[in-house]
Amino acid sequence: MKCINFIFQRNNIIAKIDPALYGSFIEHLGRSVYTGIYEPGHISADKEGFRTDVSDLVKELGVTTARYPGGNFVSGYNWRDGIGPKDKRPVRLDYAWLSRETNQFGINEFSRWCEKTGIRPMIALNLGTGTPQEAGYFLEYCNHAGGTTLSDLRRQHGQEAPYDFTLWCLGNEMDGEWQTCAMDAHDYVKKARETAKIMRWIDPGIQIVACGSSNSMQKTFPEWDRIVLEGLYEQIDFLSCHHYFENRTGKMSDYLGSFLQMENFIRTIVATADYVKAKVGSTKKMMISFDEWNIWSIESDPWQSYFENPKHRFEISPPILEQTYSLLDAVVLGSLLCTLVNHCDRVQMASLAQLVNVIAPISTQPGGKAIRQSIFWPFKMFSQYGRGEVLKYLASIPTLATCYGEAKVVQSATIHNAEKKEIVFFAVNIQETEPLEVSFDFHTFGNVTLMSHVTLKGNDLFSRNTFVSPDEIIPHSLHLTPEQLARNKITLPPVSFNMVVFRTEC
Ligand code: AHR
Repeated sequence: MKCINFIFQRNNIIAKIDPALYGSFIEHLGRSVYTGIYEPGHISADKEGFRTDVSDLVKELGVTTARYPGGNFVSGYNWRDGIGPKDKRPVRLDYAWLSRETNQFGINEFSRWCEKTGIRPMIALNLGTGTPQEAGYFLEYCNHAGGTTLSDLRRQHGQEAPYDFTLWCLGNEMDGEWQTCAMDAHDYVKKARETAKIMRWIDPGIQIVACGSSNSMQKTFPEWDRIVLEGLYEQIDFLSCHHYFENRTGKMSDYLGSFLQMENFIRTIVATADYVKAKVGSTKKMMISFDEWNIWSIESDPWQSYFENPKHRFEISPPILEQTYSLLDAVVLGSLLCTLVNHCDRVQMASLAQLVNVIAPISTQPGGKAIRQSIFWPFKMFSQYGRGEVLKYLASIPTLATCYGEAKVVQSATIHNAEKKEIVFFAVNIQETEPLEVSFDFHTFGNVTLMSHVTLKGNDLFSRNTFVSPDEIIPHSLHLTPEQLARNKITLPPVSFNMVVFRTEC
C-alpha cells in the first residue's frame, strides 16, 4: 500500500473560504421551481406554497447563495411577467427548455423563499432578448427605496423595504450558440458595459458578474474570456466560469481525473485574468464566480430526447434533466469540491447547478417525498466542515495517467477552522483497487488529535439513492485503530470520498 505524508504549517495558507463558495442555483427549468421548491397544495407546503420538506433539506445541505432565475431560461425571460397578482400573470413559451412558464413564481416569491431558507440571492439578468434599460428597471424595482413608479410598484406588491440584492450577473452563457440571442465577445462587451453603467448608477453597492466561457471545450475559450476582461475589467467584480463534468471516455480513471479538468480550466482563467490585469494596468485582482458546476451526463443522456415526442413540447415543468447520482458521482463531486476550495484565493463564489430535481442534490416527487441524492453528502460535509483557512501542503504524491493529464492519486483539501479548533482533511483516493495510507505532520499546530474519519457507504460504486431506497448512500464513520489514533494515520479506501477531522489545541 502506498503511504503519503502530508506536511502542513500553521501560517502557510491559500486563503480564507468565502461562504459564497457553497452556493447553488435555481432555474425555471423542469421541476426545479414548480413541484421542486414551490408546490401549493403539497402536504408540507406553507401558506406561500413553499415545500417545507424541501426547505428543510436545503437548510441541511447548507447552501449559502442561490443564483436565479437562470440559466438559459433567463435569456428570454421578462422579469415583469413574474410580479403582481398571480391570476393576472401571463403564461409564456420558454424558448430555452421548450416548456410553458406560468409565472406563478417570480422575483418576490424567490426573495421570500431565500429569506425563509437563509440564502443570499444572486440575480441573473436577461442580456439575450433583454435590454440594458430593462436590466436597470429590474434593479430599480428591486433595490430602489421608493418614489418612482417601479419602486412604488414593489411596495404595492407587499415589499416595502428595498431588497438590496447585492449580486447581479450580466446574462448567462452568452458565448453559447444554444443561448437565446447568443453573441460574440465584442458585442457582449458593448451590451454588458452599458448595462453595468446603468446598474452602478442606480445602485453603487452592487457586485457585478460578467459571463466567462460556458466550458473549456468552447471554440472561443479562452479568447472569449480575454476579450470580455479587456472590455469590462473596471466595470465588473467577477468573471463567471461554468463547467459540467461527466464520464466522457467511459473509463473510470478518466472520470476520476475530472478534478484535473476543473483545475486546468481555473488555472487558464486566472492566467487570462492576470494577463489582462497587466495589459490594462489595473491594480484590481479579478475574482471568479464558478456559478455553474456539477456532474451532468449530458452527452450520454441529452435532455432534448424528451422533446422528440411532440406531445411533450411546451409542457409545464416537464421532468427533464432529472439525473440520479451514483456513489461514484459523489466521489467525483467530492474531488471537484477539493479543487474549488484549493482555488479559493481566486474562486470566491461558486454555485452547484442546480439545487432541486434538475441535476440536483435533492429530488422530489410531485405531491410526494423529497430525498437526498448521493451528491448531497459531500456538499453538505464541505459546507458544514469546510469553513476557515485553506492550508497549503507539502507531499510527494504519485500520479495516474488520465485523459486530462497526470492526476495525483489523491485529491485533497485541508481547512483550518481556528474558531472551532479543528483541522478538516477532505480527500478522494482515485485509485480503483488500492487503498492509500495517509499520515500527517501538524507539528506547528501543537497537539493535534485525530477525532473521526467519515466516508460514504453504498453497496457498490453504482448504487444510488431512490424514492424506494433513499439511504443507499450515506456517510459512514470508519473505525480508527489505537495505532491510527496514536500516530494520526488513516487509510483511504479505493475510489472513496473521505472527511477526517482533527482537534487542535489552538
Ligand atoms: O444548468 C443547466 C443549464 O446549463 C443552464 O441553464 C445553462 O446555463 C447551462 O448550459
